[in-house]
Amino acid sequence: MPALLSPHGTGAKPPPLPSILAPSLLAGDHAGLAASAAQVAAVGLHWLHLDIMDGHFVPNLSFGPETLAALRRAEKENARSHTSPTSELQVNESKTFFDTHLMLSEPQRYLKAFAAAGADLISIHIEPDYDHASALAEIRSLGCQCGIVLNPDTPAEAVRHLLADVDLVLVMTVQPGFGGQSFRPAMLEKLKTLDGWRRENGWQWRLEVDGGIGLSEASACRAAGADTFVAGTAFFKAPDLAAFARSVESL
Ligand code: DX5
Ligand code: ZN
Repeated sequence: MPALLSPHGTGAKPPPLPSILAPSLLAGDHAGLAASAAQVAAVGLHWLHLDIMDGHFVPNLSFGPETLAALRRAEKENARSHTSPTSELQVNESKTFFDTHLMLSEPQRYLKAFAAAGADLISIHIEPDYDHASALAEIRSLGCQCGIVLNPDTPAEAVRHLLADVDLVLVMTVQPGFGGQSFRPAMLEKLKTLDGWRRENGWQWRLEVDGGIGLSEASACRAAGADTFVAGTAFFKAPDLAAFARSVESL
């Protein structure tokens, strides 16, 4: 009988998605971003979180599509110098997943530019006033995965209507704009709410957290349903990058 009730049996929890660590390049060396990105790949991590700020939606500036394109070029050059000249397959296999977080008042104006520059996933905030559903659909039509982001003061309900059509939901665990802030434990309840909706509806999107994430915060977020962990300061300042990566990805 249980097989008729749900694929996971009566009341059984579906297995969580494997944990992914996405180091934020914002905490890397801005005079050598390609070298910082290479440090991430060197410890076996596949995701790289790219924070894009417009000085309007958030009170800070970071970098733009040209930086992503340059990082892609550097990555290819790096892969070529470590493989045989003919092994294009290996070059493509080593491609980092660019998890692109747009903190922009008008993200819809820049989607094409970021997709063309090499973004794999583009996340946009719910707070500014634009057509969120159309922007998410456009991201997919550009061949990227799409994500929706909530600031700490934005309730889960604000994105409820979009959750059937996203690949990732990003819960900000600090006010966006700057690295190095303290994690807000009150966000754990929001994670539980979103994870509950995901289970009830059989949705497959990733649930990501961003801001003030170290190993203990990632562990608390994992218990609340998160599976994807952005870490800027905690990753780049870790005494042993590989050990930090292994600890988070084994949560
Ligand atoms: C904040 C950014 C974060 C930031 C996280 O606006 O969205 O990705 O880089 O940095 P840490 O991990 O230092 O809080
Ligand atoms: Zn971010």
